[in-house]
Amino acid sequence: MTDELAGRVAVVTGGASGIGGAIVARFVAAGARVIVGDVDAERGRASIAGYGTAAVFEETDVADPEQVRRLVDRGVETFGRLDVMCNNAGISGVMHKDFLHDDLLDFHRVLGVNLLGVMAGTRFAAAHMATAEGGSIINVSSIGGIQAGGGVQSYRASKAAVIHFTKSAAIELAQYGIRVNCIAPGSIPTPLLASSADRMPSGVSEKFTRMVRESMRDDRPLQRDGEPEDVAEAAVYFGSDLSRYVTGTVLPIDGGTVAGKPLRRRKPAEQGSAR
Ligand code: NAI
Repeated sequence: MTDELAGRVAVVTGGASGIGGAIVARFVAAGARVIVGDVDAERGRASIAGYGTAAVFEETDVADPEQVRRLVDRGVETFGRLDVMCNNAGISGVMHKDFLHDDLLDFHRVLGVNLLGVMAGTRFAAAHMATAEGGSIINVSSIGGIQAGGGVQSYRASKAAVIHFTKSAAIELAQYGIRVNCIAPGSIPTPLLASSADRMPSGVSEKFTRMVRESMRDDRPLQRDGEPEDVAEAAVYFGSDLSRYVTGTVLPIDGGTVAGKPLRRRKPAEQGSAR
């Protein structure tokens, strides 16, 4: 137990799985009461079972602003205030062979969940925070929104837009004492990557997922995968007074991926003396 969020109330979207689940667990451990919103009701209800009265669940599709408004209102009604809004829910979209094979059929859904969901969460949470003591809004983007690359172009575009929106919202909402920041995770093992390959034949999708993970792991300075808990620590930082002078930022949690390539590992014979 820590106390960074003692007495605070937080909404976490996409809290039934992966990174969102870790954020909910860490927020509760840090003393917060949490309203979890997720489109997966069964998993969402199961995910909060161990938290007693510290967490409630509201079935929510974040691509529908009215449902996001209801989620936020439920939080305020249940716990009497709102201090932290974590817009984490996201989907990756379908992985195609290349962009020329992309039918763009999932564009509206990907943008609806990943961008409209974040904007709606920011909008409705800020309305409550602006009439109280302010608050902290945390948007989950991706290193795919920072670094250009191939594959899942709608996803990349949505995540880049989340970063630009976060900075713009930080400027607008500062007058109300509301801070808005962004976390950009990179390659955290959760069901997300596999979901983008679920149209591939069985066996192929597992191989694809493994290959992507291995190549990404080798391509980053720390050369290991992160954990959902690594992202949750950043969410506690942004949700608490530890970051009271911080707004409009993007924090990659990515083992150094966006910083650059790892150094080529030298063979023992190549390693000279440091003196
Ligand atoms: P996940 O697939 O494990 O969890 C996503 C959660 O969001 C699930 O519980 C799902 O039911 C929920 N969700 C999906 N659509 C929703 C909707 N319309 N309304 C409400 N809830 C919805 O994925 P993960 O990895 O935990 O992803 C969380 C966030 O982190 C996403 O925004 C994702 O884009 C981002 N991210 C993840 C990375 C990774 O390597 N895992 C890398 C970069 C970003």
